[in-house]
Amino acid sequence: MSKPAIFAHRGASGQFPENTMLAFEEALRSGVDGIELDVQLTQDGEVVIIHDEKVDRTTNGQGFVKDFTLAELEELDAGSWFSSKFAGQRLMTLDTVLAWMQEEGNHLRLNIELKNDQIQYVGLEEKVLSLIEDYDLQERIIISSFNPFSLQRVRMQNAEIEMGYLVLGTPENALWIAREIGANAIHCEAPYALSAYGEAAKRAGYPLRIYTVNAEDEYKQLVEAGVEVIMTDFPERFK
Ligand code: G3P
Ligand code: CA
Repeated sequence: MSKPAIFAHRGASGQFPENTMLAFEEALRSGVDGIELDVQLTQDGEVVIIHDEKVDRTTNGQGFVKDFTLAELEELDAGSWFSSKFAGQRLMTLDTVLAWMQEEGNHLRLNIELKNDQIQYVGLEEKVLSLIEDYDLQERIIISSFNPFSLQRVRMQNAEIEMGYLVLGTPENALWIAREIGANAIHCEAPYALSAYGEAAKRAGYPLRIYTVNAEDEYKQLVEAGVEVIMTDFPERFK
């Protein structure tokens, strides 16, 4: 049985502040196959890497990402909340990470999660696709979202790019929706992967990519279930 690929969830976010260059560099150093990150749009329309719709949890600022310009967001400290030793880490644009992926020795795959299930960011899909094209990285990218309409919008503009439909829990209609919107895979939690729905999706040719797996016993079950990707906050545990 082939082992799943390991993706660092928000980078090596168990040891470093999530979605920062430190977390991504540690992931690369640990030998992962890929990285997962989250993107949203700033007030001035830049694609920025951050998980929550608000900056409050992971920076020293307050308020919605959509209400900050990129310059304002770049002033924030995105490391101290995790540990004072990471003070001064900054939020980054997707552009910065795509440029980093082109550096020598970096062969990572990248799962870009469009964080648009709560807030509808007009033009997010187009901007992300355009950046991927600028850097000629389509072969190494997976776009995912919990928002099926957003993925449909991606597919309407790009027939080839790899797309994962993100689900919570064990929805019985995940495979049907994935097919309808032209997704290639289902991104799910372990219970879905281990369920009859997960089995049916795999049989139908939809690989399963699992978030977020940090425990070894769960990892072993998922390897046996034949999943394609494991996303973890602690990549060094599984590499
Ligand atoms: O992309 C998989 C996973 O990251 C989705 O959940 O909340 O960690 O973004 P969340
Ligand atoms: Ca995510």
